[in-house]
Amino acid sequence: MTEGPSGSLSAGASAVPARTQVLVIGGGPAGLLLSQLLHRAGVDNVVLERRSRAYVLSRIRAGVLEQGTVDLLRQAGVGARMDRKGLVHDGVEISFHNRRLRLDLAGLAGGRTVTVYGQTEVTADLYAARDAMGGTVLHEAEDVALHDLESASPFATFTLDGETHRIDCDFIAGCDGFHGVSRRSIPEDRLKLFELVYPFGWLGILADVPPVSDELIYASHEKGFALCSMRSSTRSRYYIQCPLDEKVGDWSDDRFWEALAGHLPADVAARLVTGPSIEKSIAPLRSFVAEPMRHGRLFLAGDAAHIVPPTGAKGLNLAVSDVHYLFEGLVAHYAAGDDQALERYSERALARVWKAERFSWWMTSTLHSFPETGPFGARMQRAEFDYLATSRAAQAAFAENYAGLPY
Ligand code: APR
Ligand code: PHB
Repeated sequence: MTEGPSGSLSAGASAVPARTQVLVIGGGPAGLLLSQLLHRAGVDNVVLERRSRAYVLSRIRAGVLEQGTVDLLRQAGVGARMDRKGLVHDGVEISFHNRRLRLDLAGLAGGRTVTVYGQTEVTADLYAARDAMGGTVLHEAEDVALHDLESASPFATFTLDGETHRIDCDFIAGCDGFHGVSRRSIPEDRLKLFELVYPFGWLGILADVPPVSDELIYASHEKGFALCSMRSSTRSRYYIQCPLDEKVGDWSDDRFWEALAGHLPADVAARLVTGPSIEKSIAPLRSFVAEPMRHGRLFLAGDAAHIVPPTGAKGLNLAVSDVHYLFEGLVAHYAAGDDQALERYSERALARVWKAERFSWWMTSTLHSFPETGPFGARMQRAEFDYLATSRAAQAAFAENYAGLPY
């Protein structure tokens, strides 16, 4: 047990301070990155995370980093392992009912590439960096409640090791994901919610087998969508489109591999190396945006404010661009007493969010099977692919979006 500055006793390495400048709710990638950037800029902050560190680090999420994400991770001093282990991809493949198209990202998007490096690794690097700097991340903080958000002195209350605590602060960063408390702390009549729920999910598998291709393949097939991705030259990540009522337990590894092969062009399926899964899960697909991303002294960032379907891998990248804008605003406030960037945070973040929402929605709509849209819908998908396959302008637009729009 340690004695905290607030006089409270808490188990574990971190004592609970009575006050901080920025209180960050959520220790996922958005919260940890913001915490790391702020600490390096001399802004005091505390992260409150509901789960254990082991739990956070066991979550398997997407793994494609835009150039801007790579740059910001480096700026935050957490780029070393990513630079060693990440796979730089300068192209991506789309297969549409067995027609193939390789998009040369680097050539089409002015040299911009993407880096394949799992979100789980990004999170692990951020935790290591927070530890190295002596950052305060309080895990298993339960019943977090936010108070006085419209005043100049907001605070949060929570329970840790059975004791109630209070932390006062200047600002609260709501980085606690879609199911977090931050967005729900904003009065309903102050938020506008936009949502589209897709009538299917993705069944994903992680396996220690070499990837079927050096580059990602997004495959549209009459049986449904499939994605061939990877984490390294020996670890693959594959997904297939599945009905929402599927149960993971009904999917043996053999059943998954057989279904995946059936969703891929024959030559790709023939090269597929199969093996036992390390993880298997089903994720529903949704598009969601909450506007504005600010309420008084509470600023939302990442999944707390928006969700994209995984097609295009924009989720983590959007969380990082939010953090970029929020960090700029907070630093301008503390370093120069200038609140203009904070005032514009929601507007700037949302402008980029909506463009990523559009791209993710477009990729999802073009490549998945939607029987309910009938033959007209199927012809629209084919026309989208034809246009992409035959127009350099369309390819440049794809590459610009896939590699990531500028901040
Ligand atoms: N109090 C404290 N922490 C909370 C609370 C709460 N009430 N509710 C949720 N959290 C924590 C979660 O346990 C999680 O660790 O907030 C964190 C939010 O992390 P993410 O869900 O990973 O969201 P974010 O950091 O915005 O990352 C963006 O990109 O690839 C996408 O969806 C993917 O995780 C992803 C995201
Ligand atoms: C992944 O590797 O998990 C992944 C890659 C690209 C996507 C989505 C997920 O669009």
